[in-house]
Amino acid sequence: MNKRAVGILGTGSYMPERIVTNKDLEKTMETSDEWIVSRTGIGARRVAAPEEATSDLAAEAGRRALLDANVNAEELDLIIVATVSPDMAFPSTACLVQAQLGAKRAAAFDISVACSGFIYGMSIAQQFIQTGLYQKVLVVGAETLSRFISWDDRKTGMLFGDGAGAAVLGETAEGFGILGLDMGADGSGAELLKIPAGGSREPASLASVKERGHIIHMDGSEVFKFAVKVMGESALRALEAAGLTTADLALLVPHQANIRIIQSAVKRLGMTMDKIMVNVDRYGNTSAASIPIALDEAAKQGRFKTGDTIGLCGFGAGLTWGSAIIKWSR
Ligand code: UT7
Repeated sequence: MNKRAVGILGTGSYMPERIVTNKDLEKTMETSDEWIVSRTGIGARRVAAPEEATSDLAAEAGRRALLDANVNAEELDLIIVATVSPDMAFPSTACLVQAQLGAKRAAAFDISVACSGFIYGMSIAQQFIQTGLYQKVLVVGAETLSRFISWDDRKTGMLFGDGAGAAVLGETAEGFGILGLDMGADGSGAELLKIPAGGSREPASLASVKERGHIIHMDGSEVFKFAVKVMGESALRALEAAGLTTADLALLVPHQANIRIIQSAVKRLGMTMDKIMVNVDRYGNTSAASIPIALDEAAKQGRFKTGDTIGLCGFGAGLTWGSAIIKWSR
């Protein structure tokens, strides 16, 4: 029996209003606009209002994706939120989103896959829809990483931003939707990118706060090397699973971490930048939210049309990676 084809029925994103530019950061950390732009391509990032938490951003992106897909919240069978900056350790951010949306029928859970989270979330949604158990699944990538950095730490403080992106997945016409997927992890690189304290290994204490254990710690250059290699390799594996090559892609939507990482991966793939979606200049790295935000913007800008094949690819803490090849069906 043929498996059901699973596609994206609608997308949405929500970016907090407040913009923090590199010039603003010059006031709090030893850096310069010129350094940040030349090393990362980032010009500004969005920052959530004090009363906004990850679930608020996620719910708004979810509302917009539901509207775009013409699906009611009550029709949702499942909500998956990919995040590493949840409102709290528990309950899950997905449960808070379920309540905000009024998605009474939906099961809800979070996944912690850092920047690869949206691809992992899509793959989970695909399994449930393929088997026929569920019809409509909302996958959200949402982060408020501004709460887990310090604007006097130049190693990570200039990289990250807040935002949320979402997609409604459901059955689509045969031959359309998700054509190929690739996911992987290498936990031996767990130390390279982490928030060390606040969990069971190092519970929150006065000392953990003093030692800055609750903000992101990163070995930037090691993550950089890993990212360049794995993004291209993963995208190629997903293309192979779909029986396609880079020449078949109308657009590639990579994780928006650093323009130099994107450029190097694109070069390895033998592609040109005109086929690559980039918004890292405006939003910085929004981790799990980055791919669905960029996908939603690309869709709204008309960067691809029905019948086009697009690629999504990302990497992140864990270490993790993931790619998806999608024949756009709406
Ligand atoms: O979603 C995954 C998340 N993580 C990533 O994607 C991170 C990947 N890594 C990177 O994007 C880059 O490694 C960084 C942007 C973090 C750093 O860029 P880099 O080109 O690897 O710089 P570096 O760490 O090798 O530092 C070069 C110099 C150093 O000075 P010296 O030792 O050469 O005198 C740093 O101290 O630049 C200095 N530096 C800075 N200067 C001004 C490091 N950060 C800054 C800064 N402003 N913000």
